[in-house]
Amino acid sequence: MTIIIAIDGPAAAGKGTLARRLAAELGFDYLDTGLIYRAVGMTITRDGGDPADAALAEAAALALEPTALNAPDLRGDTAAQAASKVAAIPGVRAALLEFQRRFASHPPGGRGAVLDGRDIGTVVCPAADTKLFVTASAEKRAERRLKELQEKGEKAIYGTVLADMQERDERDRNRSVAPLVPASDAVVLDTSDLDADQAFAAALDIVRPRR
Ligand code: CDP
Repeated sequence: MTIIIAIDGPAAAGKGTLARRLAAELGFDYLDTGLIYRAVGMTITRDGGDPADAALAEAAALALEPTALNAPDLRGDTAAQAASKVAAIPGVRAALLEFQRRFASHPPGGRGAVLDGRDIGTVVCPAADTKLFVTASAEKRAERRLKELQEKGEKAIYGTVLADMQERDERDRNRSVAPLVPASDAVVLDTSDLDADQAFAAALDIVRPRR
C-alpha cells in the first residue's frame, strides 16, 4: 500500500510549496490538482469560450491530455479565475476524479503521493493517511500572492489581488459539489504567523507520527 497525504485549503495558503517540500522530504510523488482545473479553464479561455459554460467545460475536461499541464499560461490570475469557474461544474469534477485517484493509488515512484487542492481529503482521497487543511488570514494570503506576482515582474495591486482571491474563495466554498471545507479528520494548520520553513516543520510534525 502506498501512503497518501492530502493537503487542502484556500487560495494562496502555501499548500503548493508545502506539498512539494513534503514530497521531496519523504520521496513521494506530488500532484498539483489545481493545475488540472487551470488547464481545463485555459483550454476554453484561449478559444474565446466561457469557462462557466458546462457543456464546453465538460468536453474540455474529458479531452484533457497530461501535456496540457505544461502550458506556460497556467499560473496567472486569468487561469485561476477560469479554474474556479470550471471547478464548480459537477461534470468537470467527475471527469477529473479518476485521473487524480489513480495518481494517488499508483504514484509513479511507487512509495507515496502528496496531492494538494480543495477536495482531496473530502472527495478524491477520503481514506488518505494524513489530511492537512492549510489556511491563513485573507490579508496574509493576499500579501504572499502579491509578493509572488511582483517577484515574477508582474504589475499587481494589493486590493485587486485580495478581491480576486476572496471572489474565488467564495465560489470555492459555496459551490454545490465538493465545496472547500476541511475534512472532519483533517488537521488544520494556520500559517498566518509562520514563514515557509516554520510551516514545513509544523507539517512534518503532523505527518511523521502518523506514518
Ligand atoms: O494556487 P491557488 O491556491 O491559488 O489555486 P489552485 O490550487 O491552483 O486552484 C485553482 C482553482 O481550481 C481553485 O480556486 C478551485 O476553484 C479549483 N480547484 C478545485 O476546485 N479543486 C481542486 N482539487 C483544486 C483546485
